[in-house]
Parts: sequence; structure tokens; C-alpha cells
Amino acid sequence: QEHQRRPTALQPLLDATFLLLRNQLMAHRVEAKVEVEPDLPMPDIDPNQIQQVFVNLINNAAQAIASTGRPGTVEVRARRWLDGVAIDVSDDGPGMSEGLAAQVFEPFFTTKPEGEGTGLGLSISQGIVREHGGRIMLSTEEDKGSTFTVQLPLATRAPAPPPDADHRVPTKRLRVLVVDDEPHILHYMRATLEAWGHIPVVAGDGEEALTLATRDSFDLVISDLRMPRLGGREFYEELVRLRPALATRLVFSTGDTVRGDTLAFLESLGRPYLHKPFSLAELRSLLGQVARESGPHVLLRDSRPAEVVPET
Ligand SMILES: Nc1ncnc2c1ncn2[C@@H]1O[C@H](COP(=O)(O)OP(=O)(O)OP(=O)(O)O)[C@@H](O)[C@H]1O
Ligand SMILES: [Mg+2]
Repeated sequence: QEHQRRPTALQPLLDATFLLLRNQLMAHRVEAKVEVEPDLPMPDIDPNQIQQVFVNLINNAAQAIASTGRPGTVEVRARRWLDGVAIDVSDDGPGMSEGLAAQVFEPFFTTKPEGEGTGLGLSISQGIVREHGGRIMLSTEEDKGSTFTVQLPLATRAPAPPPDADHRVPTKRLRVLVVDDEPHILHYMRATLEAWGHIPVVAGDGEEALTLATRDSFDLVISDLRMPRLGGREFYEELVRLRPALATRLVFSTGDTVRGDTLAFLESLGRPYLHKPFSLAELRSLLGQVARESGPHVLLRDSRPAEVVPET
């Protein structure tokens, strides 16, 4: 269905969506707000499919507000996000518990009475957005409300290069500290980074990572957010204090569902983050970005020049 995709302005698409839902919103005493950043670039999308996503998200928000018995507001905000766009659909409805939030993307999961919900809205929406090379993230807090964020690249990414093309890309050897409490992720990251000629060092939690980060030098830190002992955010804050230069080169990796203000925290950092499960292409593009941005001064505590693997 790729042929249905075309560069699409978001303001008219969102306006049309709200118009479509006007009666439901009014019946539920829901006020609608749309805000589109000026000169927002047009993502390459199938407008019908993406509209379906917003219909689902706005309907969910309105139904959630209605369930509180109070009036409320659904706010849609479209903005630039890295090299694409992000659209936040926020409501001031009941929010969700962590347990509920962890299940909402599952097909057929619904809390609505029989006949009212199929439980397919979010899983279908997620499928559509992934087809477009994007993601849906959820940030929610009980009694405060929920924000679903749809991230879309401007153009569907070019397919990843075949594996044997890897070594033809000139690569700087990067020292990468990987922090995650899941052993299989550490294992996979170590193997991948080594295969690409980088130097991985792994840590199982923030505390261990902090010890390593203050003892050794790194070009990049990739850290999970949710970890026992010292969590990702606390690790970051300690790093800002102890190794501020390295803190600017910390990239978080996170699942689709983040708690409360975590998404806001991530976005306040104003830098890319990895979504688990991330693809090799995403990891590669992140490393390429760091290698390009950091230049020869990358290594922090010693001044070993960055090694360059020559083009073959
Ligand atoms: N904005 C929201 N606020 C609170 N809970 C929500 C929100 N959006 C979704 N949910 C919860 O997630 C569940 C799954 O949503 P989903 O859209 O997948 O299915 P549904 O809305 O139940 O059914 P359908 O979309 O088929 O009408 C909902 O039943 C609801 O419990
Ligand atoms: Mg729904």
C-alpha cells in the first residue's frame, strides 16, 4: 500500500479528523484543541491510514474522559521531532495504572463493555504507524491523564544496507558503555558493537555504570531507563554531576510504555533515544551520528586519538 503515501500536511488532516468526531466530542463534553507548529514539514504518509490512527486515539481519549463523568480536554499537538514529526494526543482523563498501561497495545485488550470496544484500536494503530517507520509511545499517570505520542519519520527509511556492506562505511571506533539490567540485551549489544568494530563495555545497573564511567573514558553511553538499584534517570543525574561532558553523550533506550513524566524527561533532553526493540539500522544510525558529531575530541579523560577504520 506504499503507493498511497504522499507528503501530507498535518493541520488539514487533524482539522478534518476533529470535524469527523465533533458530535461524539460534544456528547462527551470534551473540548478539542489542535496546535500545529508553523512550517511543520510534511511526512510521507497514507493520509487515510494515519487519520484512522488519530480517530482511534481521539476516540479513546474522549471515552476515557467520559468515564470520569466530568468534562475534559483533548489536545493534539504536532511538532518537529528529530528528523521527523511527532503528534501528541493528550487527555486530562483518568490516566492508567502501570499494569493497565502495559497491556493497552495488546490486540483484543479492552476495559470497555462488550459491544463497545473490540480492543483492537491501539494495536491496529500501532501496526499502521510501524508500517510508516514510526512509533506510538504512551505516557500516563493515574488521575492526571494520558498522552499518546505518534512519531513519524518524514520519509520511510531506506532499507538497511546488506550486512556485507557494513565494512565499507568508514567508521570511527567508539568506546560504548551499555547499561541494561537484561543480560540478553547486554549480550546482544556487546556482540553487535564488537562485530562493527567498536569497543563495548557493559554494566547491569546504574551504579555499576557510574563506577565504570568515572573510571574510564567513553564516547557514548546507551542506558536503559528502568533498572534496579540506580535507575537510568538517577544515573544520568549523577553523571551530569560527575562527568558532565559524558552526560551529554548518554542516549536512553526505552520500551513503548513509559511511566508518568518519563517521556517529558526524555524529550527535555532534546536528543534521540532508542526504542526497544530497536533495529540494527537504528543503532547504526545513532553510532554514525555520534561519530560524526564528536569529532576527534571524543575521548574524555585520555587524549588517545579516535581510530578510524579505513574504507576498504
Ligand atoms: N486515553 C486513554 N485513557 C485511558 N485509558 C485508555 C486510553 N486509551 C486507551 N485506553 C485503554 O486501553 C484500552 C485499549 O484501547 P483500544 O483502543 O486498543 O481498544 P478499545 O478502545 O477498548 O476498543 P476499540 O478501539 O476497538 O473501540 C481501552 O479499553 C482503555 O482501557
Ligand atoms: Mg479504542
